Amino acid sequence: MFSQSTFIDLCESELRLCALSPGENLVVLSQGDERSDYVDAFMAAGQRLGASVMNLRLPYSSSASDGDVGVWTVGNTPLKGNRPAVEVLKAADMVVETLFLLFSAELTEIQGAGTRILTCIEPIDLLARLFPTDDLRRRTDVAFELLSSATSLRFTNPAGSDVTYRIGYAVKAQYGFVDKPGGWDHWPSGGMVITGGYDDGVDGRVVVAPGDIILPFKRYVSEPIELTIEAGRITTIDGDGVDADLVRQYIADFVDPDAYGLSHIGWGVDERAKWAALATDQRGHGMELRAFAGNVLFSTGPNELFGGPNHSQCHLDIPMRNCSLYLDDRPIIVDGEIVVEAMRPGGVPATV
Ligand SMILES: [Fe+2]
Repeated sequence: MFSQSTFIDLCESELRLCALSPGENLVVLSQGDERSDYVDAFMAAGQRLGASVMNLRLPYSSSASDGDVGVWTVGNTPLKGNRPAVEVLKAADMVVETLFLLFSAELTEIQGAGTRILTCIEPIDLLARLFPTDDLRRRTDVAFELLSSATSLRFTNPAGSDVTYRIGYAVKAQYGFVDKPGGWDHWPSGGMVITGGYDDGVDGRVVVAPGDIILPFKRYVSEPIELTIEAGRITTIDGDGVDADLVRQYIADFVDPDAYGLSHIGWGVDERAKWAALATDQRGHGMELRAFAGNVLFSTGPNELFGGPNHSQCHLDIPMRNCSLYLDDRPIIVDGEIVVEAMRPGGVPATV
């Protein structure tokens, strides 16, 4: 258990990485009485760095992504329709938000005003264990450059996946801190890169294999789920097991054609993040599971975070193991192992 003073030290280190400087103003955004210890720690840390700090507290909204309660829908936040609150955030130099604003129109608008935003909702011990490092930023930058210069991304797995994305949107990198005006990041992120296919530019088959993880269900899949994708849409979801049933029903319940769209695609590079973590720890939002080295992070639903037209609130993140991923036919990940030396942790050679 972390003491509050240790947590304040941790938040101070994080805000230093975010280049929070004297005279800047920092707003910590919260809802209800959620994560009041996070609010207090960030405000104390911000004060230590000479920033002007405040807490903007909104009424609780069940649309938030608290891992253990509530419905994990994205994009519909307590900021919706609250114009004065949005304006306060736009006027800040930096916002730490504890709600999960990703995929919301308000996040895009606040970033557009030049405010840098950090999301922080994960358990405190995970914030410490996956604390950002310079090495992970460097390796994530390598991944960013590779993905940015590619026009197509294809991945396969032994279960029968073979899908190709014609890359249609800008690449985003996450490494756990944000130091540029208008930027967004999520502490912790390990290191990961994501992009999106053109709205009609994804075709093939994704077979989610036993051991792959479905978020927000927080389940290891035990039986295959086969998704057929045509022109950027999931057209069929096959599979006899309860996992396939759950995915079919979960998506259908949104009664939204855009729920069958494709969201981000990318991979993780953090060797500290563990695939097996979910077996013993069901807390939190699953950032460790999205970040583990060599996972291909496949996802469905909205693409508005890239500026795309899909605003669906139905979003599945599916970290997949044992995949091979190619950028313009160049292998980047082979059988779940990163094979680009500059993306691997300090000098560890690939074994495949
Ligand atoms: Fe996602």
